[in-house]
Amino acid sequence: MYLDFLGLRENPFSNTADPSFLYLSKKHREALSHMLYGIRERKGFVEITGEIGTGKTTLCKVLLRHLDPSTKSALILQPGLSELQLLQAVAQDFGLNPLSSNRLGLFTQLNQFLLDQAQRGQNIVVVIDEAQNLSLRVLEQIRMLSNLETDKEKLIQIVLVGQPQLRDKLRLPQLEQLCQRIGVRFHMTPLDIDEVRTYIDHRLRVAGADGSLEWTPEAVTEVFQCSRGVPRLINLICDRSLLACYVYQIKRVDAEIVRHSFQELSGQVLVA
Ligand SMILES: Nc1ncnc2c1ncn2[C@@H]1O[C@H](COP(=O)(O)OP(=O)(O)O)[C@@H](O)[C@H]1O
Ligand SMILES: [Mg+2]
Repeated sequence: MYLDFLGLRENPFSNTADPSFLYLSKKHREALSHMLYGIRERKGFVEITGEIGTGKTTLCKVLLRHLDPSTKSALILQPGLSELQLLQAVAQDFGLNPLSSNRLGLFTQLNQFLLDQAQRGQNIVVVIDEAQNLSLRVLEQIRMLSNLETDKEKLIQIVLVGQPQLRDKLRLPQLEQLCQRIGVRFHMTPLDIDEVRTYIDHRLRVAGADGSLEWTPEAVTEVFQCSRGVPRLINLICDRSLLACYVYQIKRVDAEIVRHSFQELSGQVLVA
């Protein structure tokens, strides 16, 4: 009903990780190239940081689709794990049948797996999202896993993705050894105003917009200012603005509608 009225096939601004809505802005592309470079050149650790909602989890998933066939990957999305749980999760993602339920046994098994893969010319990557939540002990465990290397190269590449606190955490004196192994760093910034415009247009197009919905330039500026260019917030604000259009039975999003929608949201999610 809401979609019919606005001439859309599906919801353009739902906050899900639907790959068909992917828009790789310059920053997203840069972050992706840094990740791929670190992995291909076997740089050991890669650190990617960015504010909440800038697209980090989205990128982790995109990254896996860009890896070449000689790279095997594991993606850990919930890092609130113990050392053992982390090893289990990694082993499971690589399709290993855990031979041991203790940490040392599993660690040995994973090391053996890494050596086998290296002999076959395979590169191995573990991507860990929300890595700012990893405990110091788990980070230390990860460093030990990354210790394995031949004379020439690292056998496992580890991509740590997280909120800006990750940067501070990795610089703690206790983690000096790990910090020294970070070969690539990248900080994601939010979208600029031109990217916000393209982002909105892209999502409307993918959602099948038939052209009857007008989006004024001032409305785009307002979305940019209210969201600071953070995609998650852009989605929330734009979604609410479309709802307002439906409620008022108008097919034109202007600055006033965006501002009003943002104010309504501010009392709810945006301050959370
Ligand atoms: N490059 C992008 N293209 C399309 N949508 C994106 C992009 N980056 C983020 N989003 C949207 O913003 C939402 C939040 O992104 P997410 O990757 O979860 O951010 P983070 O992990 O940094 O908190 C996603 O659900 C998605 O809808
Ligand atoms: Mg995330």
